[in-house]
Amino acid sequence: MIITQLTPADLKSAAKFCRINMRFDIMPDFLFKEKTFDDPDFDPELALLAKENDEIIGLMVGVIRNHKKIGKIGYIKLMAVKLSERRKGIASKLYEIIHERFVREGCERERILESHPNYFQPGLDPFYTEAICFVERMGFKKFNDTANMICNLVDQKFDTSKDEEKLLKEGILIKRAEKNDFERTMDFILSEFELWEEEVKNAFKNDPISIHIAIYNDNVVAFSAYDTNNLNTGWFGPMGTSPEMRGKSIGGVLLKRCLRDQQSQGHQFAIIPWVGPIPFYSHHCDAKVHRIFWRYEKVLN
Ligand SMILES: CC(C)(COP(=O)(O)OP(=O)(O)OC[C@H]1O[C@@H](n2cnc3c(N)ncnc32)[C@H](O)[C@@H]1OP(=O)(O)O)[C@@H](O)C(=O)NCCC(=O)NCCS
Repeated sequence: MIITQLTPADLKSAAKFCRINMRFDIMPDFLFKEKTFDDPDFDPELALLAKENDEIIGLMVGVIRNHKKIGKIGYIKLMAVKLSERRKGIASKLYEIIHERFVREGCERERILESHPNYFQPGLDPFYTEAICFVERMGFKKFNDTANMICNLVDQKFDTSKDEEKLLKEGILIKRAEKNDFERTMDFILSEFELWEEEVKNAFKNDPISIHIAIYNDNVVAFSAYDTNNLNTGWFGPMGTSPEMRGKSIGGVLLKRCLRDQQSQGHQFAIIPWVGPIPFYSHHCDAKVHRIFWRYEKVLN
């Protein structure tokens, strides 16, 4: 067995390897590319393949994020080992190399998946039993859990006209963000939802711009976005309403505007990841809890 760095020439075979060996997930080639080479923090030294006779038998991709508030974190973004090659220490060897680099680069902690803002899933799906065993053996501790919800887009209308009229009478304008809304939207995000800065920037890169906003007294007071991560998979979010503007149905209207867009893109389902207020999504769009994720962390000295 040799361990090599992932190169663009491996893209198709590595994505196929994930499709075969991560059986609860989808991994089209375009998504694998987004999760690896298109990640702004992509580091070839953290994207490793184990190969035998030129065939991929193991894959592990890590990334380091230098978050403004919570510091430097090393993430294992993706991992899989060929079924017939498991329990031979392959994932351990790949992890050892990645872990050493995390330590060298001064990471304060390591986490599994959840490599926000470009992340595949918000944690480890516990149905991957072997992965639970593996990460616990590597010294990770579960510290939280979260869920993705799914919203059926097929039979719902998401009509917001009446609510929008009512809001307008209160001086609140609901609209799709335009290019010249960028600055005031970012002012709002940086003061209220700083964590989502990059996702919101991504929404402004899309055509049409994939973020709807609420304006009150010329200021942005709420937003809702989609296609900010896992592009072309029906990925909704993030969204947020300023605390003093909550309870006026602004969030519901903005959510439905995004779901309507996702419907017109041809999606049958929207994924509402890493929730969050389950009753809110259940109420407004009949979303259901779809998958559960366990969040793991290892604190480094
Ligand atoms: C998780 C995974 C990558 C582990 O790969 P692996 O090469 O088999 O892992 P290792 O051989 O290095 O295992 C190291 C240790 O982890 C633990 N471990 C791994 N798999 C285990 C299992 N099935 N049962 C119990 N313990 C396990 C053991 O302690 C093992 O050491 P040991 O064999 O000396 O007891 C592999 O099982 C896999 O590909 N699973 C499916 C994909 C997946 O779950 N990906 C994560 C979600 S995206």
